[in-house]
Amino acid sequence: MDQPLLERIRTEIRTQGPISFARFMERALTEPGLGYYVGTQPRAGRDGDFMTAPEMHSLLGSALARLIRETWERLDRPQPFRYTEYGAGSGALLLAVVDQLIRDESLLLEALQIQLIEINPHRREEIQRALATRALRHPLKIVEQDAPPVAGVVVANEFLDALPFHIYVGRAATAHGTAERCVGLNEEDSLVWVEVPLGEAEATRVRARFGAPLTEGQRAEACFAADAWPHELAEKISGGLVVMIDYGREGADLRDAASRAAGTALAYQGHRATDDLLGDPGGRDLTAHVDLTALRAAATAAGLTPVASTSQAALLAGVGLDDEIERIRRGPEATLEGAIALRSALARLMNPRGMGGFAVELFALGSAEHVSRLADARNPLPGAAAPIRPLV
Ligand SMILES: C[S@@+](CC[C@H](N)C(=O)[O-])C[C@H]1O[C@@H](n2cnc3c(N)ncnc32)[C@H](O)[C@@H]1O
Repeated sequence: MDQPLLERIRTEIRTQGPISFARFMERALTEPGLGYYVGTQPRAGRDGDFMTAPEMHSLLGSALARLIRETWERLDRPQPFRYTEYGAGSGALLLAVVDQLIRDESLLLEALQIQLIEINPHRREEIQRALATRALRHPLKIVEQDAPPVAGVVVANEFLDALPFHIYVGRAATAHGTAERCVGLNEEDSLVWVEVPLGEAEATRVRARFGAPLTEGQRAEACFAADAWPHELAEKISGGLVVMIDYGREGADLRDAASRAAGTALAYQGHRATDDLLGDPGGRDLTAHVDLTALRAAATAAGLTPVASTSQAALLAGVGLDDEIERIRRGPEATLEGAIALRSALARLMNPRGMGGFAVELFALGSAEHVSRLADARNPLPGAAAPIRPLV
């Protein structure tokens, strides 16, 4: 079988020795022309490899539209007002937000400009075509990735879990008690795991991340690319709200030796999860839980103010879910199919052990006055009032 991406990865390993899993993942997911995320095939959704909340139903988009509108109001309705979405995929979330604003006849539509940080050029074109079908008085302006920042919101749904991460394993016999699980080649030229002792610099950043050492054989991931992410947000919006939604846990939970001895890294293909991370590079999604403790620390270091740590279920419940259900039950979607889709989406989106338990992290940035309006504990943003994430 012709596997050009596998051959390129082999060549890199032959030339320079074992590569980190982060490097392998970068090539497997985003290698130009060959990576998992850059082709024409749908990845998220029923015809893809995994289901996301926006691909399942418009409920999350409707909730976000309300949160975004409230943010716009609290910032005194800036014009323009940017919606930046990282990893927008098919655009299901953005389109649900826009459709909700259209139904609400919101004046925000006149101010809204869209910025897509999506690596897949096919998805970007599809989104632009879909936006052009919406009945709007003024077509929405789409700005480039490097457009100077203006006020707005940044949204990232299931984006950070797809950024390349390193994998480490506890090895008491090595100098720093930890080795990195890298990717090498065996005698048959197959990709295999190779444990590489940590150098000084690597040991320092791993210690800073993990705190306590891993137990013998325990595996854990560290996504340093996710630490860098908050630092680039001020280049996208000059002030406003950041909404990060993903499966994630506190760092200490992710490295609990009893419950997470094998870490959280998984590959997805055809709606099936496997721990064979090295098989079929370019054909599988690769992902790990987001370390929320590390994300909050990175966000704070980047000058962002944490506004709320909550869950997807709490966000939906706090942002008018009942009204939206009522609207769907009475509107044109009040068909048998619509009712079944709604019921099944609700069961999944509200399940605290499933998507309902996904982390929602809200951050504010901008002037002190604007941040205080978004992070006001006495008057929390809709959906930001429930500080306790369900224990799952
Ligand atoms: C798990 S999918 C989520 C898609 C969408 N947000 C959803 O919820 O359905 C991750 C998305 O991030 C995009 N992506 C992955 N790495 C990226 C990168 N480095 N820069 C921009 N987009 C990236 C992928 O193409 C994909 O659309």
